[in-house]
This record gives sequence, C-alpha cells and structure tokens, in this order.
Amino acid sequence: MLSNIVASQSELHERFGGVVPEIASRAHVESILPVIDRALSEAGAKFTDLAGIAVVTEPGLVGSLLVGLTAAKTLAMVLELPLVAVNHMEAHLYACRLAAGRDVFPAVGFVVSGGHSNLYDCKSAVDYELLGTTIDDAAGEAFDKVAAILGLSYPGGPSIAKAARDGDPTAYTFPRTFLRDEQLRFSFSGLKTAVLYEVRGTPGSFREVPPLTTQRVADIAASFQAAAIEVLVGKCRQAVDLLGHDRLCVGGGVAANELLRAELQRMAEKTGVELLIAPPEYCTDNAAMAGLGWELLERGLTSPLDLDVTPGLVRMR
Ligand code: KG4
Ligand code: ZN
Repeated sequence: MLSNIVASQSELHERFGGVVPEIASRAHVESILPVIDRALSEAGAKFTDLAGIAVVTEPGLVGSLLVGLTAAKTLAMVLELPLVAVNHMEAHLYACRLAAGRDVFPAVGFVVSGGHSNLYDCKSAVDYELLGTTIDDAAGEAFDKVAAILGLSYPGGPSIAKAARDGDPTAYTFPRTFLRDEQLRFSFSGLKTAVLYEVRGTPGSFREVPPLTTQRVADIAASFQAAAIEVLVGKCRQAVDLLGHDRLCVGGGVAANELLRAELQRMAEKTGVELLIAPPEYCTDNAAMAGLGWELLERGLTSPLDLDVTPGLVRMR
C-alpha cells in the first residue's frame, strides 16, 4: 500500500446524529479531487503510473456512489485505463486479507458496519456469496441510534463502548433477537426500541422512569452492547458451523469494538476457527479496502464505461 487517504465526514453529520444523504453527496463532490491528488502525491505516483481505476459501485448512498463513479469513469476514459467495480462489503472483507498479508480464503465473512450486518461465504478473494443479512437495522445503526437515545455523541459505536466501560452489562436484560433462530439473519430494531422504552418509559405505562444519571447511561450502554455482541458472535458461530470453513474474516466499523473482538477471539478459540480481523483503522472505511480492485483487475474482471451504481444490497443468490 502506497497511500491510504481517508476524508471523514463525521463532523458534518454529528449534529444530526446520523448521515444526511444530501450533505454526504455534496461533501463527496468537494473532497474527491483533493483526495485523489493527495493519494497520488503521498504515493509518489503520477496518473501515468496507474494500471487501472477501481471504484465502489455498491451498496451505499446513491449520491455518494455517483460522485465516485463519475470521477472514476472520467479518469478511466481520459487516461485510457480499465475500470474496476468494487463491492464495498466485499472490500471490507478483503481488508482482512490485506492485514494478514497472505491468502485467507475460503473463509466465513462477516461485515458489521453502519449500514450492514452481513454474513458471507468467501470462496476466494473475488467470489463472495451473501448468506444472510439484517431484516431491519444494521448493528452499527443500532449503536448510533442507542447513543443518540442516551445523549452520547456521534458516531455512536465508540461512545457506547466508552460509556459501557463503567457500566454493568447485566443491569438490564435486553432482547437477543434471532440468537436461537435457524436462519442466518439479524434484527436490531427490537433491541433499539427496548433501550428507548427503558430510557423514556413504555408508552401507556405509568411506571416512573428513573433519571438518566451517568451510571444509568453506563449500565444501559453496557447492557445494550452485551446484547448486540452476544447476537453478533452467536450468528458468526452458526455460520462457521454451517459452512465448515476453518477461517473467519470480520470487517466493518463495528469490528473496531474491543469487546466484540475479544468475544470473537474467545469463540474462535473454542471452535478451532482462525479469526482474521483487521486492525481497527482498517475496519472502519478506508482506502486500503480498494486493494480488492487490484485482485479483480489481475483477473481481468473489469467493467465497461456504462457501468452504473447499485445502491441497495444485491440480493442473495
Ligand atoms: O464501516 P463503517 O466505517 O462505515 C460504513 O457504514 O460503511 O462503519 C461505521 C459504523 C458506525 O455505525 C459506528 O458507530 C460503528 O461503525 N463503529 C463502532 C465502533 N467504531 C465504529 N461500533 C461499535 N464499537 C466501536 N468501537
Ligand atoms: Zn464501510
């Protein structure tokens, strides 16, 4: 890797408690050219050194994806270079291969990000089959929304983890949705609502709600985190048992969570599976993920210039 430039928009979205799509698109327009310039200058490279242009086309917010794709198509056309379409979820998994510095596939893949909680059968570096996903909120979204309910700062994942350090994870019993369900699927909206009712009271109930003291915030954060992580680890274990692969690759922003990493490690040791999890800076969105573009290019898996974006998650095969 020659450079890894990340233009974060967290500050712009902070006061809204989540990503505002139109603000995200505009910020992409403003930052894309400076980011490309910096990526090249830090790598000590020129446009003429490039072998191809990789770009994320799915899944994601349509406006942001279009800004990236338009820039990539322009570069590919002007420089007469091949264009390579990268799936953002698969790139999160590929970050595990980059961090390991060796081939890690076949493996069970697990992406836990702000918008997705997906389990994959990673057959090779360029062949990923989606096995299961969430029927409502993603894990990271639940962290962000629960943080907002508790008055903690955005992005919610790190603030929940920080608050939870001083909390009792057994103080509240929140739902572990689908933990015992046969299907590889997730649901986090019930968990989020359970936290909301704990904080603000159940609609129609006369039970008085205790004040949201620092200790109560810590206990709720710890209990929420424990519930979410138990489900995430449990479902990974289910996928490992189902597929029989001896490696598990985990990526996405929520995989930066220390407790989740520790619990996954414990599960891996118990089941004898090798856990491959990127360092935290390669779990959250980064430029190194684009390494998947190189794998695709090497195999001739390029795309024509009329390539389009696919904002939604491509359905399971
Ligand atoms: O993968 P990512 O950087 O962006 C995409 O969604 O593609 O993931 C961002 C998500 C946010 O929801 C954020 O709250 C969560 O990752 N996150 C964490 C932690 N760090 C980031 N969640 C739990 N614990 C963390 N330490
Ligand atoms: Zn991501």
